Amino acid sequence: MAAAQKRIAVACVIAALLTTLAVSSPSCIPVKGVYYPEWSNVDPSSIKTKLYTHIYYAFVTPHIDTFQFQIDQTQAPLLLNFTSTIRAANPPLITLFSVGGAAEGTALFSRLASTSSSRAPFIHSSIHVARKFGFDGIDLDWEFPETPTDMENLGYLLDEWRAEVQKEAAATGRPPLLLTAAVYYSADTFLDGVPRAYPAASVSRNLDLINVMNYDYHGAWNKSVTGAQAALFDPSSNLSTSYGLGSWVRAGVPRSKLVMGLPLYGRTWKLRDRGVHGVGVAAVDVGPGWNGTGVLTYAEVVEFNKANKAKVVYDVATVSVYSVGGDYWVGYDDKKTVAAKIGYARALGLRGYFFWAINGDYKSSISKTASKLWHL
Ligand SMILES: *[C@@H]1O[C@H](CO)[C@@H](O)[C@H](O)[C@H]1NC(C)=O
Ligand SMILES: *[C@@H]1O[C@H](CO)[C@@H](O)[C@H](O)[C@H]1NC(C)=O
Ligand SMILES: *[C@@H]1O[C@H](CO)[C@@H](O)[C@H](O)[C@H]1NC(C)=O
Ligand SMILES: *[C@@H]1O[C@H](CO)[C@@H](O)[C@H](O)[C@H]1NC(C)=O
Repeated sequence: MAAAQKRIAVACVIAALLTTLAVSSPSCIPVKGVYYPEWSNVDPSSIKTKLYTHIYYAFVTPHIDTFQFQIDQTQAPLLLNFTSTIRAANPPLITLFSVGGAAEGTALFSRLASTSSSRAPFIHSSIHVARKFGFDGIDLDWEFPETPTDMENLGYLLDEWRAEVQKEAAATGRPPLLLTAAVYYSADTFLDGVPRAYPAASVSRNLDLINVMNYDYHGAWNKSVTGAQAALFDPSSNLSTSYGLGSWVRAGVPRSKLVMGLPLYGRTWKLRDRGVHGVGVAAVDVGPGWNGTGVLTYAEVVEFNKANKAKVVYDVATVSVYSVGGDYWVGYDDKKTVAAKIGYARALGLRGYFFWAINGDYKSSISKTASKLWHL
């Protein structure tokens, strides 16, 4: 234990020396992030802030033509309530607002990033919104840059964003806003087969944290086979967290900025034969889950398992867990798989972990397990 802690401390010090002054929080403190979806109706005052360090308000979206934020009368009080409540909590958390998200898609960002005259209004407006509503930083959630040109433009966007953030900090004498991004599970291998790679040098020099989305490897888009949507290992493909994190490290992104994603949700299928129920077996449909997506929050999985007296199986090969109730199969993460993944991320020398999303946990049980396992 002591040796592992010392190694991480040394790694942090070296990382801090190698990286430029962009990092404004002490780089040895583990990151325990969590996304807070606006639509989850979680009262900010109910958040157990001892379990996290960073909280991301999801989502805020710029205008499709001006690329500036026009926070409306519905969202403004929500943002203010969120930041003031979290700031007053004991302990307070670092607050960021997250721009984009899976539902937003890629087109808006592709256009926004494409010229300096579209990037500038976006950048200025994002800094204005952060200061006006009391956030400590901004998180870019572009899902996903689709072409090599998008990736190149993302690199320019991050360079110009960082420059403006430093300029604003110097002009106002305030600590610079944090800049972070949620990124694809792999730096350079995409499920759609289109060759492209993240601009690793720009990502490394401009972002404070990189939230790697280590989930959604399998899902409703393939109804014929069950899959471990957040497998740590996959003996037969590169669709795994170990491969994805490895690709980010190989791309040269500092480990002290890389944050492993953990899903607080599972994905369901309807089995072809309820007696044949491993990872990667035949399925015929998507199974229960919100609006045909097959997605169940972890809390809903716990309820599903109880209601269906489901059989729960730990899959050693993928470090995932699944349950079988009647004809239905649910792949998800529980305390045990999260503990194993945290051990893996610590051994790799990463900065921490984050969860998507706060409303998925069951009585904070996974958040508690994770937080206990990662301390200096
Ligand atoms: C935030 O909203 C909640 C529920 O609407 C309310 O009870 C609370 O007083 C508000 N907090 C702040 C700091 O505005
Ligand atoms: C579904 O997944 C299986 C196993 O990974 C793969 O062999 C098959 O090609 C996939 N089907 C589609 C339509 O993507
Ligand atoms: C996994 O990625 C490596 C390169 O990182 C490649 O050489 C290998 O063929 C890939 N494996 C599969 C199964 O796609
Ligand atoms: C539910 O799914 C359908 C079909 O994919 C979609 O058109 C609809 O907008 C979804 N409903 C909600 C509330 O998202």
